[in-house]
Amino acid sequence: MADITSEIKKRRTFAIISHPDAGKTTLTEKFLLYGGAINLAGSVKGKATARHAVSDWMEIEKERGISVTSSVLQFNYDGYCINILDTPGHQDFSEDTYRTLMAADSAVMVIDASKGVEAQTRKLFKVCVMRHIPIFTFINKMDRDANDTFELLDDIEKELGIATCPINWPIGSGKEFKGVYERGSRKVTIFKDTEKGTKEGMAEEISVDSPELKEFVGEDHYGQLMDEIELLDGASAEFDQELVDKGELSPVFFGSALTNFGVEIFLKHFLQMTTSPLPRVADIGVIDPIKEDFSAFVFKIQANMNKAHRDRIAFMRICSGRFDAGMEVYHVQGDKKQRLSQPQQMMAQERHVVDEAYAGDIIGVFDPGIYSIGDTICMPGKKFCYEGIPTFAPEHFARVRQVDTMKRKQFVKGITQIAQEGAIQIFQEYNTGLEEIIVGVVGVLQFEVLKYRLENEYNVEIRLENLPYEHIRWIENEDFDLNKLVGTSDMKKVKDMKGNPLLIWVNSWSIGMTLDRNPGLKLAEFGRQ
Ligand code: G4P
Repeated sequence: MADITSEIKKRRTFAIISHPDAGKTTLTEKFLLYGGAINLAGSVKGKATARHAVSDWMEIEKERGISVTSSVLQFNYDGYCINILDTPGHQDFSEDTYRTLMAADSAVMVIDASKGVEAQTRKLFKVCVMRHIPIFTFINKMDRDANDTFELLDDIEKELGIATCPINWPIGSGKEFKGVYERGSRKVTIFKDTEKGTKEGMAEEISVDSPELKEFVGEDHYGQLMDEIELLDGASAEFDQELVDKGELSPVFFGSALTNFGVEIFLKHFLQMTTSPLPRVADIGVIDPIKEDFSAFVFKIQANMNKAHRDRIAFMRICSGRFDAGMEVYHVQGDKKQRLSQPQQMMAQERHVVDEAYAGDIIGVFDPGIYSIGDTICMPGKKFCYEGIPTFAPEHFARVRQVDTMKRKQFVKGITQIAQEGAIQIFQEYNTGLEEIIVGVVGVLQFEVLKYRLENEYNVEIRLENLPYEHIRWIENEDFDLNKLVGTSDMKKVKDMKGNPLLIWVNSWSIGMTLDRNPGLKLAEFGRQ
């Protein structure tokens, strides 16, 4: 039996966040390549295979061409056991994407060097900040023409409000990309367009003080590098592990995932700068990952879209101790002892049944419909709850109408169950009954999923009428009289399933106006569970 302490200490669990096309998939593939989990990066995401080849959990989703899944990949590298949480983007961006970040101990932010900070990165970043987790930046696609390096850093600092500390520095970009200078070791790694998708063609290293460097990078780049080093050493924030740990300083790396340049340098530094799973807050206090017995929380529920199988998979993040398949555990919210059924993990490309797993790992278990997002699982005899998972702001709203009003009961049952699983949020107009239901989603694909599932699982046909609202805030004041609220013309008052009041607006600036008009009003961007 493996030693629990060393198993937990070697774990690193992180999410990769980015805007679509910045290179998240390519970078993940290269990580796997170094971990020896795959032999050739192209085998994960070849041209012929679907984009989601590695990430998809559910065959059924692939058949339907819809992926609502965030996946987890585990691999070993250099003595570490790494869990990468994928945060799906594109049209499958959903509340699950945010929830995945609740299970990570740190985040890697991939930025396209020619684009800087983009919309989806901004949204995901907010969640990382809320959690105060360390954020590492990988500025990708240096083999293409990039924005000015100082401007890129400035963009991150201004747009995201986080200080940056470049660990290495690029020399040129695009056709003129010569390599990166590592500030700590004062060494320059020379860029060689490696054979795509392989580890071959190891880059050459040379000291920045070596007379040969000028030859390698050319006179102009050499001069520029010297100037930039001087500027950088005088102006940029110094590396401070404590600030990194608190998520206040982001170490920045430059490279090109596609040509596999700068990936291993990044991985090595990153693994050293991140920590193994940290204690997590529960209602009885802080739970130590090593000293305490097994405990976990559910951060995502994956419904099976196949009508014939109503089962679901509940994804849990193990927070402490060791999990053994077949052991008896206690589901706190359900107040029941049970065995976790068919626990699974994703190793490189394959899903497999786990015999044991440790704090930091993610397991997916068969869920007959008993778990809810945020639930705690621990050992029998213990009883505590991890902090709940917040409700994230939907950005798209639609009014739902039933085609056949006779099926009211099935409709309410279906829509409520789907909302409980966390795929959608439902609201009612303030001061009216259930007859008018407004659905809010993070990604528009969820509307399609809702329609499909109501039809297939509950035999209810609906029509969705899109509403123009895009912004939502929870009202934090417990005693605020909503009837007296002075709003804006594009505002609507709604309430959630629990009766909590919320406000939705068409325009973002109206939020500020509403605050101005109602002194004392407190609005929150995340809803409490
Ligand atoms: P994502 O997961 O963040 O959405 O991005 P992904 O890795 O799929 O990369 C998006 C596109 O950018 C891909 O090209 C990929 O090959 C390319 N790319 C990723 N990293 C780099 C890089 O460092 N340099 C350059 N030049 N390109 C990079 P595609 O043509 O859309 O896909 P594919 O046909 O290559 O699969």
